[in-house]
Amino acid sequence: MSAADAVGRPATAIDLPALAALDAACFGNPWSLEDYRQELTRSFARLHVVEVAGVLVGMSCSWVVGDEAHLLRIATSCGERRRGRGRALLRGVLDHATAAGCQQVLLEVASSNEAALALYAAFGFVPIGRRNGYYAHPPDDAIVMRRVLSHAPSANHSD
Ligand SMILES: CC(C)(COP(=O)(O)OP(=O)(O)OC[C@H]1O[C@@H](n2cnc3c(N)ncnc32)[C@H](O)[C@@H]1OP(=O)(O)O)[C@@H](O)C(=O)NCCC(=O)NCCS
Repeated sequence: MSAADAVGRPATAIDLPALAALDAACFGNPWSLEDYRQELTRSFARLHVVEVAGVLVGMSCSWVVGDEAHLLRIATSCGERRRGRGRALLRGVLDHATAAGCQQVLLEVASSNEAALALYAAFGFVPIGRRNGYYAHPPDDAIVMRRVLSHAPSANHSD
């Protein structure tokens, strides 16, 4: 993975079909192409993609609202997992939130999603609550996690 691939880039309208396809492959409650198009119009949304050889293999979507950031989506394609791309995407979200002056980052994750739970824990997210029955497809509870931002670069987390 080159340095440019690892960092990724902001999504554009050209990425919409690939974003919707990746989402459909990764989530039981997929966002449509129109959902992603809407994210591109939101001034407070950060929609970021990672490519390998021109193929979109990862994405993250986060919002900055006031002094809080919220991670709404993060995914890497099945054949590209455990290669550090989820880590790179999450690091980008945290660095962006820190630069925007956020005090904390919040997210929800399915209680059975061991991969995501491990990724978030490695970056210092801690569980702060549980939303029973939050997910329908498949049925699951959501764990609410928070990472307090120290306003120092996150580069060494989980490395
Ligand atoms: C969660 C997800 C984004 C991780 O992406 P990834 O590209 O595999 O992440 P990385 O390779 O950077 O892994 C970083 C760390 O996360 C943890 N992790 C990732 N996958 C894991 C798994 N299957 N089991 C346990 N830990 C895992 C590990 O700590 C890993 O570090 P390591 O490889 O050095 O052990 C990916 O599994 C995914 O897209 N899942 C489907 C979508 C999803 O569930 N998103 C989260 C919604 S809340």
